[in-house]
Amino acid sequence: MNDEDGLGGLEGVVAAHTVLSEVDGAAGRLVIRGHQLDEIAQRWRYEDVVALLFQGFFDTVPNAAALRGALGRARREAFERLQPNDDAVLRKMPPIEAVRALLARLPDGDDLATALRLVAAPAVYTAAVMRWRLGVQALAPDESLPYAADMLRMLHGRTPTAAQAAALDTYLVTVCDHGLNASTFAARVVASTGAGLASAVLAGISALKGPLHGGAPGPVLDALDAIGTAANARHWLEGAVASGQRLMGFGHRIYRVRDPRADALKGALRRLSVEGSVNAARFELAEAAEQAALAILREKKPDRALETNVEFYTALLLEALGFGRESFTCVFAAGRVSGWVAHAREQVKKGRLIRPQSVYVGPMPQDADTELAH
Ligand code: CMC
Repeated sequence: MNDEDGLGGLEGVVAAHTVLSEVDGAAGRLVIRGHQLDEIAQRWRYEDVVALLFQGFFDTVPNAAALRGALGRARREAFERLQPNDDAVLRKMPPIEAVRALLARLPDGDDLATALRLVAAPAVYTAAVMRWRLGVQALAPDESLPYAADMLRMLHGRTPTAAQAAALDTYLVTVCDHGLNASTFAARVVASTGAGLASAVLAGISALKGPLHGGAPGPVLDALDAIGTAANARHWLEGAVASGQRLMGFGHRIYRVRDPRADALKGALRRLSVEGSVNAARFELAEAAEQAALAILREKKPDRALETNVEFYTALLLEALGFGRESFTCVFAAGRVSGWVAHAREQVKKGRLIRPQSVYVGPMPQDADTELAH
């Protein structure tokens, strides 16, 4: 690791006190506003966790039932903002950039209406962009449906089964917030300038896009495709590590044990497989690849505890729900946007402008003059 300045990606630096979530990297525990992840991941709808995260950060926050209606109306509004030429232009862009471009059109502000627009819009725009890429029209939301069920309906053009909607709810709840990850920090920095919630969310989505953060699950499937068979897993993964590649879906800045979100999502996959919505051979291949990867990482990187992270089973779950792999980061954004908004409000309410310092290590003017003279 190149860490000449000793700051090491700000590892261990505390930059906020938050009431929103705690990531315990040693125990492998995630707490969201007092709730353990495994307590809420299976049972809650996305609307429930949005209500939880927003509580206290706006003058009034509707309860989960009222929020369901408000988010439905906000999806409709997001859909109505689409313009006739959008499909031709945006279908050619990577989906996360297309969704970001559409979000950039939303009006900025600091109120609940802005927040609800920002949470609602990624569901509508992800489905629209993915349909445009297939050459079919975007579908209008059904306001009466819960968020996750409507997102799947807008994508596939049919109402999902209860198990499919529940699996997407589990995913969205699981990724809604996660301490001061890179995208949340980016959102807080922008919020601290007073720029508004939409600007903070655009910063968040831009940080999320990178393969070291939210861009990993698509490449997880690319790796599984390349591995092909369980028998080939060790050989392929060893080659990847030997050539200096990082294995996508493994390792984490905070967790030194298994990421609890990986198990929440693996559980959702198991429940979904009961109704036959999961390709059993794919699941078996993934499990074999995971075991091989963990063994190789233990051998080759013994000094760093590298375990399965959230992205590994995200890839399998979102694939089983019929999301194209190019859209995985957009679905992540649909879940994480509620965390970005809550953190942005928390920063604005109690924080000052975030403005750290740097230490200048370049030449001073007299040095530069001396250098020029030679
Ligand atoms: N595969 C192989 N080696 C790895 C991996 C990996 N996935 N992750 C870390 N390492 C190695 C790294 O090469 C380094 O080795 P060395 O000291 O020999 O150079 C050592 O482990 C320490 O790495 P690091 O860069 O200090 O670790 P970090 O805390 O900066 O990185 C990470 C965390 C998530 C960026 C990294 O583990 C990684 O790149 N993983 C793969 C991408 C991925 O799955 N990202 C999703 C993260 S979870 C979603 C989220 O919460 O954002």
